[in-house]
Amino acid sequence: MFITFEGGEGTGKSTQVKLLAERLRAEGKVVVTTREPGGTPDAEALRNLLVSGDVARWTANEELLLNFAARGSHVRNVIVPALVANKIVICDRFVDSSYVYQCVAGNARESLFAELVRALAGDTTPKFTFILDIEAQLAMSRAASRNGNQSSGTRADRYELKGPAFHQKVRQGFAELAKRHPNRCHLIDANGPAEQVAARIWAKLNG
Ligand code: TMP
Repeated sequence: MFITFEGGEGTGKSTQVKLLAERLRAEGKVVVTTREPGGTPDAEALRNLLVSGDVARWTANEELLLNFAARGSHVRNVIVPALVANKIVICDRFVDSSYVYQCVAGNARESLFAELVRALAGDTTPKFTFILDIEAQLAMSRAASRNGNQSSGTRADRYELKGPAFHQKVRQGFAELAKRHPNRCHLIDANGPAEQVAARIWAKLNG
């Protein structure tokens, strides 16, 4: 089973990936956790190119191409082999992030996005997508303090530099996506303690 987490920076995705994996493992399931862009050495190298440097370093179309190059390597080498082996794969971001960040908040071409999905993700589609939702400004200040303490390997400074209007569009884009795909996407209120958010996710997964 393929499960993805989506949402803006600072919404607590990585914590929820970890908590869900622990809970499923406690039930005896074999779980692989991974992230995008990343998940293979080559995809992590592309991630470094995407998240560092000046905000104008890449256009939205260029970001789309780099994210999908990373995704191709990740799907082929990690996600598909784990699913074929009947493992549960939990991925921090996937195709929906490309749609929302590059095509909704950015100005990348939707036709290019659709073609890249067909070519590089194929029929690897999540069964459940949990979209973590909190007010964009609160999320950004959480992300900034996470990056400020230097303890996390997940710095995403280039995206944080895109500004509040961009991140507001990201939040709206994810909310609209949840409405458009009600069977797959579940919008989760990500306010409150991590354990409470985890309980909301668990209820949806078992609902
Ligand atoms: P993260 O640590 O929050 O996942 O940071 C990765 C950044 O990359 C985040 O700002 C969202 C962005 N991103 C895209 O713009 N498009 C994509 O397809 C993916 C997977 C991530």
